[in-house]
Amino acid sequence: MSQYKAIILVGGPSRATRFRPLSLDVPKPLFPVAGAPIISHHLAALSKVNGLKEVLIIGFFEDHVFSRFIDEASNEFPHLHIRYLREYQSLGTAGGLYHFRDEILRGNPQQIFVMHVDIACNFPLNEMMEAHMKHRGLCTMLSTKVPREQATKYGCLVAKPDTHEVLHYVEKPETFISDLISCGVYLFDIAIFGEMKKAIDRKKDSQHEESDYLWTVSDDRLRLEQDLLRPLSEGRKLYVYVTEKFWRQIKTAGSAIPANAAYLEKQAQEHSDRLAQQKDDGPEIIGAVYIHPSAHVDPTAKIGPNVSIGPRVTIGKGVRIKNSIILDNVHIGNASCILHSVIGWNSKIGAWARVEGSPVADHNVAMMMNGVKSQSITILGKEVSVMDESIIRNCIVLPHKELKSSFHSEILM
Ligand code: GTP
Repeated sequence: MSQYKAIILVGGPSRATRFRPLSLDVPKPLFPVAGAPIISHHLAALSKVNGLKEVLIIGFFEDHVFSRFIDEASNEFPHLHIRYLREYQSLGTAGGLYHFRDEILRGNPQQIFVMHVDIACNFPLNEMMEAHMKHRGLCTMLSTKVPREQATKYGCLVAKPDTHEVLHYVEKPETFISDLISCGVYLFDIAIFGEMKKAIDRKKDSQHEESDYLWTVSDDRLRLEQDLLRPLSEGRKLYVYVTEKFWRQIKTAGSAIPANAAYLEKQAQEHSDRLAQQKDDGPEIIGAVYIHPSAHVDPTAKIGPNVSIGPRVTIGKGVRIKNSIILDNVHIGNASCILHSVIGWNSKIGAWARVEGSPVADHNVAMMMNGVKSQSITILGKEVSVMDESIIRNCIVLPHKELKSSFHSEILM
């Protein structure tokens, strides 16, 4: 018997609209940050939990979407049994858990980790387990402090400072209630399935009633936060573990850049041998940089910090790249400069070109320029070409576009 199991909630193809244009070509959970799919960072953290042997990925993507990834991940994490369970339609963040409860409870796990896929996090799972064993509540939720002005975009919670019991939980409140927010990582006691049953019954009972937290009757979905956790917090069975380590949400395509930076910096702190090392005959490497072994980077290029370079990329002489993700098979011509950008698969950047975004603290918040909403990170979709000497600044460029001149603050379709 293994005590723990883990579930990663991955959503489905109809979600991740804010991740466009990148999610047009790859399902968001498989988009690479720091040289590995978003979801594989979750698996790496889970692989370090003693007593955890099985990970269930639950979503409503077609079955084949994750099959290759699961084969590769099973090789990388041989002691984890990883499977994909497909919802017949979007069942909501708790609906899928309830639907697959027999599968989840098989083998008698006592506690279950549940993780949203769309986050980058230091995943202090062992610390959560310790906290959970002390209070023995139904749930320990991972929480972090965010700047006061951003808090209302998240699920906010108020906890007792001494016992860490959650007193209130409100999803995206209209006015400020707390700067502590839910990170989308939970450790549940298996008794939670009883609470899910109650939540479903409540939902049925409320058929003709107005309710502020239950989903509309016609909808099969059961939401983890609103339908399950919020009523739980009123019953004092919910506890919080507050982390001071990094946490980022990956919602918009631009938010892949700070997630990439956070994971690269973590790997640098751990002295990971995945990161590029400065060599006498190689390019100048600044800070944390990942370069796939099949990429070719000219020794006169200057790369970093916070850059990931994918398979089969070629980078010309004198190129400068900073705070960016360069996806597979991109070609960057001599003396070009790429800053705060994502360059899509197979794109071609000419010589002496400049593709750049602007550094901002929170990429899920729209950046304003002269009162107009502006794109902070520049994103080029798949197979975009940029002519020599062009400047592409603060733009989103949809796949297959040929850019023959310079553009500034535009969405190019
Ligand atoms: P938004 O800010 O509105 O996107 O809300 P949120 O941050 O709470 O995210 P949301 O509830 O949409 O998704 C949280 C996580 O659950 C993400 O990893 C989604 O991919 C996943 N998810 C969302 N809906 C479903 C669903 O119906 N089924 C499954 N299996 N996963 C889901």
